[in-house]
Amino acid sequence: MKKVVIAGGGVLGSQIAFQAAYCGFDVTIWLRSQGSIGRTQPKIDNLRKSYIDAIGLMDSPQGEANWCRGIADAGSFEPAKCLEQVEKAYSGIKLELDMAAAAADADIIIESVAENVKDKIAFYQALAPLMPEKTLLCTNSSTLLPSNFAKYTGRPEKYLSLHFANSIWKNNTAEVMAQDKTSKDAFDAVIAFANDIRMVALPVNKEKNGYLLNSMLVPFLFSGLDLYVNGVSDPASIDKAWKYGTGAPRGPFEIFDVVGITTARNIALQYQKVPGLFTPILRKMMMPYNFKGMLQLFDKMIAEGKLGRSTGEGFYKYSK
Ligand SMILES: NC(=O)c1ccc[n+]([C@@H]2O[C@H](COP(=O)([O-])OP(=O)(O)OC[C@H]3O[C@@H](n4cnc5c(N)ncnc54)[C@H](O)[C@@H]3O)[C@@H](O)[C@H]2O)c1
Repeated sequence: MKKVVIAGGGVLGSQIAFQAAYCGFDVTIWLRSQGSIGRTQPKIDNLRKSYIDAIGLMDSPQGEANWCRGIADAGSFEPAKCLEQVEKAYSGIKLELDMAAAAADADIIIESVAENVKDKIAFYQALAPLMPEKTLLCTNSSTLLPSNFAKYTGRPEKYLSLHFANSIWKNNTAEVMAQDKTSKDAFDAVIAFANDIRMVALPVNKEKNGYLLNSMLVPFLFSGLDLYVNGVSDPASIDKAWKYGTGAPRGPFEIFDVVGITTARNIALQYQKVPGLFTPILRKMMMPYNFKGMLQLFDKMIAEGKLGRSTGEGFYKYSK
């Protein structure tokens, strides 16, 4: 693989592009309008800074605690070389408005446009006739299944999910999920590509909303929140129960503050819209949860500007 195309230059599209370019691939971001270029370029500028800052931290006495596996392995970290890769990535990423030019000669295209079914279908329909035969096509969708879109791609056997986590230079998982028409060759090639861009590739052998991480994380977060909204205990005690009882570094409310309260609210709504996010047993278990109380709490926090770590206060207060 040589040429990597990312469709969409939002939060995740820009990160995937930067990471692939950092790992030496020839990267193009396809964008639908001039306005999108104006919104994407600052994201790439910020990513350059995030990578440089991360490399600086990795090269400091706190390096181990701040290690970014997407940037380098602990045993072979050469800060100067990493910084060189950052500059090469930064100057190498191409922004392209012409879909045909972007798709020409693409080895892999990763769709990372907004999480909207109609927009994604329209995108696949426009792209299908423009791709060379060799192109692998992936979706980074967090909640939608690739089988929803395979028939619009013109190449169901080369179409699957490649799902990244936010801050991919640190949180370097790539969940690779096939739909029933995906060929084994395509699946294996995407696993190899994910490893090549320094991700830890995680195979998901059956279609599942929420993949691996969110299938476990979301019920866990709601279980903690349900204890709080029903007055069973307070956030700090619930977090301690989880951390001290299991040795985990963070409890549910500390995680909510990192994820952000607006996103947490969207996830609570999504749970009600997409029942497949949970296995039948979990769904049954969560049926009595007080989602109404959770949404009221989130709405109150949002109205008060308590959006989590990013605003200095969520469930906890943070010093600047
Ligand atoms: N944000 C996350 O933490 C995260 C994590 C993993 C996966 N994802 C997934 O990545 C995808 C993109 O999410 P994001 O957070 O980067 O969103 P975003 O809103 O930041 O970016 C969306 C991008 O899609 C473009 N876009 C919007 N409508 C379009 C259309 N009709 N045609 C073409 N392009 C269009 C926008 O211009 C923008 O570049 C979604 O499928 C989401 O589920 C997001």
